[in-house]
Order: sequence, then structure tokens, then C-alpha cells
Amino acid sequence: MSGKLVNLPARRILRLRCAMPRRTAAQPQDFSLTLTALLLAMLLVFPSCKRDDMADQPKVRPMRETQFFADETTVRPLVPGTIARDQLPIRAARTAATQPEAQDFPSPLTYQDLKRGQQRYHIFCAVCHGPTGDGNGMIVQRGFTRPPAFYPIEEHRTSFPDLYEREHALLTKSPGHFVKAIVNGYGAMYSYADRVPPDDRWRIAGYIRALQFSRNAPLNRLPEADRTQIELLSSTSGATTQPTTGGAP
Ligand code: HEC
Repeated sequence: MSGKLVNLPARRILRLRCAMPRRTAAQPQDFSLTLTALLLAMLLVFPSCKRDDMADQPKVRPMRETQFFADETTVRPLVPGTIARDQLPIRAARTAATQPEAQDFPSPLTYQDLKRGQQRYHIFCAVCHGPTGDGNGMIVQRGFTRPPAFYPIEEHRTSFPDLYEREHALLTKSPGHFVKAIVNGYGAMYSYADRVPPDDRWRIAGYIRALQFSRNAPLNRLPEADRTQIELLSSTSGATTQPTTGGAP
């Protein structure tokens, strides 16, 4: 080797020598290597000091007991109305949509059911059908097709003769008619099946019945206190309201 080196031009030898590791220069390099290794080791060691804190932070593990929720379990119940894709209710709802209108409510409605029906009606239906069911909700005032009122309105006899006919017919429709309109939609009205779950449909239908009743309530079906008040009003104030005595549902 060295015999060959002698034959190399001086400049090349110089370059070769420079490329060779020098003892003196190696020292600071060693130091920085050690420093890097130390830093790396610290990086590995220090975060692991915090490990317990992170592992013990407040969190829930599946199927474990917890004090966080009132029912003391980390398993959360499904959000009401959750259904799997292939679960029965959807198919049932689809077939229900094509079934004939139910003639009666599936079970008697309580006062609470009617209150819930009222609340749902105000959320989903009142914008078009109006808070009192007169068919003149805000969306209709802004130009949407006018639905019939749920009961006959005398002025409609001349202003909306078509609707007036339907308003009469609606008095004798079965509860299933209202439920079906919610499920399928009706003419210009779109379906509310995905927003109003089955039980609420019946409650809304019950509340529509209550609205109808309120417009045509026979005196003898009112509570004593209401009856005396109406009788008092009609005898003193020149009878601005004409309480009917005829039979409504
Ligand atoms: C965006 C406006 C709108 C909303 C919201 C709406 N409807 Fe309707 N609804 C209509 C219109 C318009 C019609 C009449 C459609 C037609 O005849 O083409 C109608 C028709 C109906 C009918 C049938 C009336 C008949 O002649 O037999 C029923 C029952 C009904 N709606 C109930 C509801 C209920 C219950 C809700 C709430 C869940 C509701 N609607 C929400 C606009 C609406």
C-alpha cells in the first residue's frame, strides 16, 4: 500500500490524509455523541415518569363500574329511536304506511300524552297548520300551500270552498288518518316519519282531536267551573261567543 502511495501526486495524498479520521478531532465528536445519547435516554425516561398519571386519568373503560353516570355503569344506553339498519321497526313502519287507517287509538291517551302531543305538534306541525290548527301557520303566510283547518272555519266557506269541504270531512276522520299523514306525508306535505316516532304520532293525533273538540265543545261535556264561566260570559257580554250545544267527538 504505502509503496503505491509514494507514486501518487502530492495533492492527492493531501486529500487522502484529510479524509482520514484524526485523533484530535475525534474528541469533540465523541462528546456530542454522548450528549445525544444522554438526551435520547432522558427523552425515554422522563415521559415515562408521567405514565401513571396518564394511565389513571379520568376515563371510562367499557363494561366497567363508574360513579360518573347515575346508573353506575360505563355502558351507555342507546339514544332513543336508535335502530339497526335491518331492524324490524323500519319495515313495520313501511308496511304500516300502506295499511288501512287505524280506526282508533292503540291505547287510551292520558293527559300527559296529550301534553306531549301538544308540544310535538307545536314543534313539527304548527309552522304550517297553525298553533290552533286553523291551517294558517307562518310557512303558509309566507307562501306554502294552505292545508285545510282541522275543523270547519266559517269564512273558508267563501274564501277557500275546497278546503272548507275537507275541513268538514276531517271532523269525522279516524285517528289513523292523522297518523298516516305523518308517516306518508299528504299531497304537498312531506313525510314526518323520520322525525316523529310512532308513539308521538298517536299523541299528536290525540292533540289534533283536542283542537277539534275545543272548536265545537258541547257545553254539557265541559267541567262545571268552565261551564258556569261561559254561561256567565254569554249572559253578560252580549254573547260574543256562541257556545254550541251540538255533539262533537
Ligand atoms: C311544511 C308545511 C306542513 C307541515 C310542517 C305539516 N303539514 Fe300537514 N299538511 C300540509 C299541507 C299543505 C297539507 C295539504 C296538502 C294537500 O292537500 O296537498 C297538509 C295535510 C295534512 C293532513 C291531511 C288533511 C286532509 O285533508 O286529510 C293532515 C292530517 C296533516 N297535514 C297533519 C300534519 C301533522 C300531524 C303535522 C305535524 C307532524 C303536519 N301535518 C305538518 C302542510 C304541512
